[in-house]
Amino acid sequence: KKSQAWSALFSEPMSELVQRYTASVDFDQRLWRADIAGSLAHASMLATQGVISEQDRSEIERGMSQISKEIEGGDFEWKLALEDVHLNIEARLTQLIGDAGKRLHTGRSRNDQVATDIRLWLRDEIDLIAGLLRELQGALIEVAEKNVEVILPGFTHLQVAQPVSFAHHLLAYVEMFSRDEARMADVRKRVNQLPLGSAALAGTTYPLDRELVARTLGMEGVCQNSLDAVSDRDFAIEFSAASSLVMVHISRLSEELILWMSQNFGFIKIADRFTTGSSIMPQKKNPDVPELARGKTGRVVGHLMGLITLMKGQPLAYNKDNQEDKEPLFDIVDTVRDTLRIFVEMIAGQLDAQTGSRQGGITVNAPAMEQAALKGYATATDLADYLVKKGLPFRDAHETVAHAVKAAQSHNCDLSELPLAVLQGFHPDIEKDVYEVLSLRGSLNARNTLGGTAPAQVRAQITRHKARLGVA
Ligand code: ARG
Repeated sequence: KKSQAWSALFSEPMSELVQRYTASVDFDQRLWRADIAGSLAHASMLATQGVISEQDRSEIERGMSQISKEIEGGDFEWKLALEDVHLNIEARLTQLIGDAGKRLHTGRSRNDQVATDIRLWLRDEIDLIAGLLRELQGALIEVAEKNVEVILPGFTHLQVAQPVSFAHHLLAYVEMFSRDEARMADVRKRVNQLPLGSAALAGTTYPLDRELVARTLGMEGVCQNSLDAVSDRDFAIEFSAASSLVMVHISRLSEELILWMSQNFGFIKIADRFTTGSSIMPQKKNPDVPELARGKTGRVVGHLMGLITLMKGQPLAYNKDNQEDKEPLFDIVDTVRDTLRIFVEMIAGQLDAQTGSRQGGITVNAPAMEQAALKGYATATDLADYLVKKGLPFRDAHETVAHAVKAAQSHNCDLSELPLAVLQGFHPDIEKDVYEVLSLRGSLNARNTLGGTAPAQVRAQITRHKARLGVA
């Protein structure tokens, strides 16, 4: 058992419980690539600035490349006694190359090191997530394109409201995920700033070139205040908030998929590989994947609460509290990535390498959607609008149509099934052309304003999205 990793100052060994309590290596070893990249950029700059020799720099490079191989090959021995990913790698480096390894930490602290590692790692994860958000938009557009003319009931309060195009409904989610993508791109700018060079909290006495390190690591800038650079994790919180919104959008979509799959809707089916059976009820196929996605949303939102609470009481500068940022962040990234991947495939199907198109996504039951849209007087607003065009004030038209709906209800039929004479009893100006207005398709076509559900508008939106995403 080690007595101390830091110095001769400590008079007794750390208890095993405290060691386990304070160590992070079990989870932060995941940052190893970023840790090594940061160290190499730092070492290279130290040599350029004449703080260490060129010889030291090449020794460090040699050692780090050996360590990378060891970690990749699963041969690296992670030691709890060495606390975290940083001390584990540095200790192995020194074991491999001697004094040059001991010079690596010149002008650096684990405080600016870990802040740099998380930012580098998170930047790359954001790029993956942004790419998946684009794929998901593409998947939704693929299904939308085939369903522009398919009509389903649009709901408000989950009560039948007005008919909408199924494509229009799917494109609503494309809008949400495109904003999520934009939010990720915005967060990325603030993530991609360099803390290294801030050292423990106050900067350092060596002539470091921080701009050079930033350029080497592909970062957009350098954190301008050392105290802030080592201590704040607002960039991680922002990312968690953006991720929470991704999951909230996924969760809303999940809720709809689950409803649509229910026998009482029967609007869609999802492929069997995304469902599970029941151990007792032989007939069951349950939508486990969307249900779990809805459930995992709670988990991601919970991590956001955890991270934001972690930050709130911390005085400047670094505090060990911040070590607690990693597990939630890792779990958010894993959850969001897996969820987006699975949704792309569940919605549009598996990618066929030959044709480049997807096969085996959701199956749409257009007749069931249309039948459902015929329930609940979805075109009542159209009749009111019709009367307005005949000169009635909207409020009077609204009242007149309420009477017509009441009559249709008592005959247990749709408005479009009432004879013309009956309709004329509600208002003498009603003519034969009203039946087109009362049809689902007539209602859809009539909503031909920007952002509306008319097929012409929906097609224009699909074209716009495809150009934006650069898909054929
Ligand atoms: N494992 C630590 C963390 O994740 C690294 C920084 C530790 N710094 C320190 N002075 N103890 O935050």
